Amino acid sequence: MDIRFVTAGGGDVVAVMATDGGDLLAAGKALDAAASGRIAKAMKAANFRGGAGQVTDILAPDGVDFARVLVIGIGKADAADGMTVERWAGHAVKRVLTSGAEKLVLQPDALPSVSKAEAGAHAAMGARLAGYRFDTYRTKLKPDQKPTLTAVEIAMDGPAAAKARADKDAAVVEGVFFARDLVSEPPNVLYPESFAERLRDLETIGCEVEVLEPETMARLGMGALLGVAQGSSRPARLVAVKWNGGSKGSKPIALVGKGVTFDTGGISLKPGAGMDEMKGDMGGAAAVAGTMKAIALRKAKANVVGVVALVENMPGANAQRPGDIVNTMSGQTIEVLNTDAEGRLILADAVWYAQDKYEPSALIDLATLTGAVIVALGHENAGMFSNDEDLAHAITSAGQAEGEPVWRLPLSAAYDKLIDTPNADMKNIAGKPVAGSIVGAQFVKRFIKDGMPWAHMDIAGTAWKSGPYEDPLSPAWATGYGVRLLNRLIQNRYEE
Ligand code: BES
Ligand code: MN
Ligand code: ZN
Repeated sequence: MDIRFVTAGGGDVVAVMATDGGDLLAAGKALDAAASGRIAKAMKAANFRGGAGQVTDILAPDGVDFARVLVIGIGKADAADGMTVERWAGHAVKRVLTSGAEKLVLQPDALPSVSKAEAGAHAAMGARLAGYRFDTYRTKLKPDQKPTLTAVEIAMDGPAAAKARADKDAAVVEGVFFARDLVSEPPNVLYPESFAERLRDLETIGCEVEVLEPETMARLGMGALLGVAQGSSRPARLVAVKWNGGSKGSKPIALVGKGVTFDTGGISLKPGAGMDEMKGDMGGAAAVAGTMKAIALRKAKANVVGVVALVENMPGANAQRPGDIVNTMSGQTIEVLNTDAEGRLILADAVWYAQDKYEPSALIDLATLTGAVIVALGHENAGMFSNDEDLAHAITSAGQAEGEPVWRLPLSAAYDKLIDTPNADMKNIAGKPVAGSIVGAQFVKRFIKDGMPWAHMDIAGTAWKSGPYEDPLSPAWATGYGVRLLNRLIQNRYEE
């Protein structure tokens, strides 16, 4: 989609803002004056109240050059932030994407806590994110199912400042789309080797990419990661993507992602219903991949290394059994009591490798780790755990700013005890249905070295959304969750 910044736009459709109570803002008022009050009349007739996302759709009003006017609510102006503007733009784009219209004009207004330039840039961001589709495998789309919208014009005074911001944001959008594509791809197409190949492509934008094969992983002692992979005919990969945009010798921040390209549960087989969703069990790896793409495209002045552990969890003839005890690269042993608690097993070796090899200044892992986090937080917040107050706060505020909220959950020695076992250094489940997400986090923590600032993000509820979730900025399935948050975190905290 082509995004242009102009002072006065022209096209098929125009969208303006209205606030709680049903009041048009400046751009809408000007349009209403040109239409001799017909827009306000239509809003009144439709009982439009201006709530966030509420729309009055006016066709062919007299006196204006547009065939269609969308008045879209943003709720209370005082409470509005940049994300409010993005969602406003997202509603407009989703409404007309396949409508036959080719050009949409957005007329954002400045808001009490959003400057004009910010409003313009957020409108562009919202329009881009809402225009995403994953149609790769749909060969028989009917004309009315195909996107017709090719251009969005952001019409405003002083468009240049907004354009400058939006150009930087375009890199982040590319990162989000990369993550969405990866989560959306079917598991016969995206498996450890093909995922690794897609990461290899990041070399063309200046990343260093290193791909480890099973022989190397075995030599390094990654028995937990390889134990998960051994039930599949698809060999595991561990990929490190480096972006060296910071000063030479300064320690990188490490991002580690769970990349289970399909999670059947292994011998502890999952029930059949909805198992297809487990193609998205590489959402943590996708978030890391998307972030690396975003920071490389915008040439971030920071050193960042992304490490993703890629496996397929299958119940093959050579699959690991409940009761197996595996060795890890850290030297610690794990009793595998449930082969469906596989994410923590691959993370154990991946986070150790990331610390051992790159000596990062901080480490953040992202994983679709537990169904329990969906029980606790639904699809609205990711669960976040951290041993470092400053890092936890920085992640929370980055998520807040980018519409990717997190909610912090606790860690403590009492929870840690739940994974003790007489048979090995630890077991991979608590064995009773308590605090499932915390137990997962405590397990990963056992592989974090003393003194390492660390955060774990359980994104099982946010990497994709199933069911009746309508998000103006996201498709029905893959969200790309994590890319915006991590990009913002790097910008706020790690960039020189
Ligand atoms: N990939 C799943 C977690 C998951 C569930 C992600 C639903 C997204 C949606 C993970 O590997 C898993 O199976 N976890 C188990 C852990 C249990 C065996 C301790 C779970 O959540 O049931
Ligand atoms: Mn599992
Ligand atoms: Zn899993």
